[in-house]
Amino acid sequence: MSFTVAIDGPAAAGKGTISRSVAAEFGLAHLDTGLLYRAVGRRVLDGADAIAAAEALTAQDLENPEALRTAEVAQAASRVAVMPEVRAHLLAFQRSFAARDGGAVLDGRDIGTVICPEAEVKLFVTASAEVRAERRYLELSAKGSDVSRAQVLADVRERDARDAGREAAPMVAAETAVLIDTSEMDIAAAVAAACDAVRAAL
Ligand code: C5P
Repeated sequence: MSFTVAIDGPAAAGKGTISRSVAAEFGLAHLDTGLLYRAVGRRVLDGADAIAAAEALTAQDLENPEALRTAEVAQAASRVAVMPEVRAHLLAFQRSFAARDGGAVLDGRDIGTVICPEAEVKLFVTASAEVRAERRYLELSAKGSDVSRAQVLADVRERDARDAGREAAPMVAAETAVLIDTSEMDIAAAVAAACDAVRAAL
């Protein structure tokens, strides 16, 4: 039987940590759907056509996720993510992952609204742009990346605007989503809130 937890929200709100923790707590598989768009963005930076790259994407392209977690690839991902044809090519992969036996957590921008509208649990994880930019800045600096706070905040705002403003599957909370604002929450409290929502649906 499939059991799907859909977790949406903007960059650096805590979705990744929450998704991994929920998956571990309930023994569910986890797919970070941002990696699909990042893999396509990476290909485009290397000169490929976005739609052809999305059509040709396989699970193997997601095997080296750390290489895809750069600011440059994130921006490229959000640029290809506005294209309906790119999104359409990535749909089947996500839906079949969600349908696997034993259940799954998928995190992204449109999981509760477009990819898995029937998900048993929908969460929308958010935080203020300033808080998210500070978290991302600390993360990138720890990896040795030479970025400024102002640049990271500008990047976060640019990506938010593109993700929320696009016509194809814009980032928006599903009507029935449980809202978790992590601006003033530590990660343990956010994970606990997410686990409570999942437990209530079991
Ligand atoms: O979540 P992450 O920051 O890795 O996502 C990178 C980009 O991929 C996002 O800014 C967004 O444009 C796009 N994306 C999307 N739909 C998803 C997941 C990611 O449009 N379900």
